[in-house]
Amino acid sequence: MGIKILGLETSCDETAAAVVEDGVQVLSNVVASQVEIHARYGGVVPEVASRQHLLTIIPILKQALSEASVNLKELSAVAVTTGPGLAGSLLVGVNLAKSLALATGLPLIGVNHLEGHIYANWLEGSFIEFPALCLIVSGGHTELVLMKDHGEYLLLGRTRDDAAGEAFDKVARLLNLGYPGGPAIERAAKGVSDPFPLPRAWLPGTADFSFSGLKTAVLHLARDLGVSEDSPPELIGRIAAGFQEAVIDVLVTKTLRAAEEHGARQILLGGGVASNLRFREELSSRSPLPVLIPRPIFCTDNAAMIASCGYFKLKAGRISGWDLDVDPGAQLLSGSS
Ligand code: KG4
Ligand code: ZN
Repeated sequence: MGIKILGLETSCDETAAAVVEDGVQVLSNVVASQVEIHARYGGVVPEVASRQHLLTIIPILKQALSEASVNLKELSAVAVTTGPGLAGSLLVGVNLAKSLALATGLPLIGVNHLEGHIYANWLEGSFIEFPALCLIVSGGHTELVLMKDHGEYLLLGRTRDDAAGEAFDKVARLLNLGYPGGPAIERAAKGVSDPFPLPRAWLPGTADFSFSGLKTAVLHLARDLGVSEDSPPELIGRIAAGFQEAVIDVLVTKTLRAAEEHGARQILLGGGVASNLRFREELSSRSPLPVLIPRPIFCTDNAAMIASCGYFKLKAGRISGWDLDVDPGAQLLSGSS
């Protein structure tokens, strides 16, 4: 009998619950997206998100248990995202996890959301070798992390302004492509052979990133070209592709450079932007090292990645106490939860 862990994730606008066995085998993975609710505002509205989590979390929990054909007594622990994320949203997951642990006697394990994105790679059944260079690229984060072992991280670089996914979302809005921006930009850029050349911020000598200058360059280009809702899709496609190429070029180049400098044996990707097929292709073809990329459903926010991380924490005896609390600004630190 394997060790089955329930994972809960409510850090942003996805309400998610999953059951994972031995950290690698996904028995269920239920995600209720609020994207349609937030789309009309062009981004996530925190107050709306936490209310929606409250309405959805219990049915989602029940569905995750029933799809995995387990009851609470057959679980070995409850793992939950504590941060980074929206405080009101995180509270819904953390309070449910605490109640479940209290009612059942199961161990409670707090998981850092970024650590979860890294652990999504364990759900693919690949053999992972340390040290691994991890790039987490999502709506809120762009972080290059050296993972030396389970739970041991060294932050090498991060964005100094917009996260990569945030830049996709903002540029999509500029181009009237809607929300969420990443998939919309990817669709608009598909098959474009003559993208507009746009600048890259290399920030030499650091592993940090910057995307706000690129966003401003898109704004100027769109103004110069008189972009409006009636612009031809070919024109929008050329701008979207130019933007996408610039982001991908910087992400891939800096990731490969950091991997070489730190003697990484593998590259692991995580976060919503890692579901971009053009990015996946480019990194895999330019990398001399094996590149692991979770399936798109495990790149975007989900609870299976939280359950997987929870398994390795349980094995290491890193169980949380009743004082476990949300940490909206949490960093990825060694031994963090
Ligand atoms: O990891 P995630 O689901 O949530 C956060 O923790 O932020 O990432 C969501 C972000 C959004 O900014 C979205 O636009 C971006 O990931 N994203 C993409 C793609 N799919 C989602 N960016 C580029 N290309 C995509 N295909
Ligand atoms: Zn995320």
